[in-house]
Amino acid sequence: MKMNKSFALSAFAALTLALSGCQGMISDKPGIHPNQNMDYQDKFKAQEYNPFFADGRAMRTPVEGTVARGGLRQDIAYYEGVDEQGNLIAENPLTITKELLYRGQDRYDIYCAVCHGGVGDGKGIIMTGQYGYVPAPNFHSDYIREQPDGHFYGAITNGIRSMPAYNTQIKVEDRWAIVAYIRALQKSQNINELEILEFNVDLAALRETYDQEQAKLAALEEAKAAAAQGGEISAALGQQVFTRNACGACHSIDGSALVGPSLQGLYGKTRNFEDGTTTTANDDYIYNSIINPMDQIVEGYLPQMVPYDYLPENEIRSLIEYIKTLE
Ligand code: HEC
Ligand code: HEC
Repeated sequence: MKMNKSFALSAFAALTLALSGCQGMISDKPGIHPNQNMDYQDKFKAQEYNPFFADGRAMRTPVEGTVARGGLRQDIAYYEGVDEQGNLIAENPLTITKELLYRGQDRYDIYCAVCHGGVGDGKGIIMTGQYGYVPAPNFHSDYIREQPDGHFYGAITNGIRSMPAYNTQIKVEDRWAIVAYIRALQKSQNINELEILEFNVDLAALRETYDQEQAKLAALEEAKAAAAQGGEISAALGQQVFTRNACGACHSIDGSALVGPSLQGLYGKTRNFEDGTTTTANDDYIYNSIINPMDQIVEGYLPQMVPYDYLPENEIRSLIEYIKTLE
């Protein structure tokens, strides 16, 4: 009896040792795989060659006329933001509720605010940090406020010019929630005093915060101007500033039109504007075009350039010097 008990104990100890001994040990023999299930079987991996098919590809296209489960997207207004004729739809297809707006705010703050800014003014952290990205437009310009809802949905879904698409990160419903929220932001930034009085807000407190913020900004501007005083002004620096701020995303220097007009040969040329006025492209004109591009819209172009008024004075002057060399 006694004998048996100690035998059982030592057998148990040996077994524990044997089993735990395998852990973390390096071996050049294949591991023991008692239950094979279907772990090892012939199969084709993505992109592999398969002699069975005439075209030699293992990956097959869906059978013609079929739609994968969950892939039916007949409601093109909802999925693509356009109507049957392919025109952008004017209004959000979802019912606008408080929940939808909060969801939109949540997604907007995650995906858009870094560039377009918390209130949609284009002053996101990429701008304050001077990361050299193409600046994101302000959603409160008349031009953007007049765009249909489908325009915003399309920008999120397909990207727009130098902005990438967010369709892999943001679900369709959330995209519409963001569009609704942008509309709310636009309303919030374009409300007049009479309208504001309809809401329960402390106007005096708001104005005080606003004045404080403006004072801070003005101080920052002053400090920046002081720092740039006597800074280098040269065409070479201008070329660097041009590259650093990705002006080339919209302006070629070889005469070809991109989103914006080519800057080749601009200096001294006559400029015609959308409002029928004209001017000569001198220093003042170019200076103003950089810090206040919405002021005069070059004929044949859209008001799509954001103001670069945050650039130090010597950098703007250098850009002008650089543009003069583009003959
Ligand atoms: C990485 C920075 C970045 C992020 C993040 C970003 N955008 Fe943009 N967005 C841009 C830039 C830059 C442009 C201007 C592109 C151009 O003109 O080349 C732009 C343009 C747009 C426009 C077009 C404005 C016009 O000219 O009509 C819309 C609409 C827009 N963004 C919406 C969004 C929304 C909604 C989100 C969040 C889902 C978002 N963007 C996220 C940088 C960004
Ligand atoms: C998102 C695209 C975009 C970016 C980035 C951009 N611009 Fe523009 N720019 C435009 C468009 C569109 C116009 C024409 C409409 C207008 O007059 O505002 C324009 C107009 C101009 C003009 C007037 C040109 C003319 O033919 O009279 C100048 C000068 C200019 N931009 C300089 C710059 C500089 C310098 C930078 C970089 C610091 C820059 N732009 C970045 C789109 C852009």
